[in-house]
Amino acid sequence: MVLKSALGAVLAATLAATLAAGAAHAQDPAAVARARHDHYKEIGKASKAIRDELMKPAPDVGVIQAAAKTIDTLAPQLPSWFPPGTGRDVVPKSEALPIVWQKPDEFKKDAAGFATAAHAFDLAAQSGKLDAIHTAFPTLGGTCKTCHETFKAKDEH
Ligand code: HEC
Repeated sequence: MVLKSALGAVLAATLAATLAAGAAHAQDPAAVARARHDHYKEIGKASKAIRDELMKPAPDVGVIQAAAKTIDTLAPQLPSWFPPGTGRDVVPKSEALPIVWQKPDEFKKDAAGFATAAHAFDLAAQSGKLDAIHTAFPTLGGTCKTCHETFKAKDEH
């Protein structure tokens, strides 16, 4: 009896490992989620760099322009970072809520709003006019918040 269940456990573990390896091969959800996380880290870093400059008495417009370009380049790619099967059920570390895939149209709408704001901010940044930059930045930040409120597990950013 004991032997039989031990053998069963070994077989189950082997099967689970085989399935996991197969799944990893097919799409590797963990790698997708990791790449997504890295993109967001880059966006978060650029966003912070802009915020830090704008708090200075004499912001470095060059730093703002480079960061704005980074965000504007990444923003239109955002929907492609969320292929089905890469949510928290498969990658527990992910903060992407199931609603991302349950309401794809709403998610894409928020992503599109972000891309529009990112582009508008980039235009303001490249103009070099600090007042335009100051005006456009909160609009951009608002689009991060809107999406996080609905689609991300914790809004700490
Ligand atoms: C259309 C939705 C959407 C928009 C717009 C968006 N995010 Fe996110 N963000 C997410 C989701 C969903 C996650 C969780 C991804 C995961 O963990 O798999 C995330 C994760 C992050 C993370 C990673 C958190 C961590 O664990 O380190 C950062 C940083 C971040 N976002 C910053 C931003 C900033 C800054 C903006 C705007 C400039 C922004 N995001 C715009 C949906 C969005």
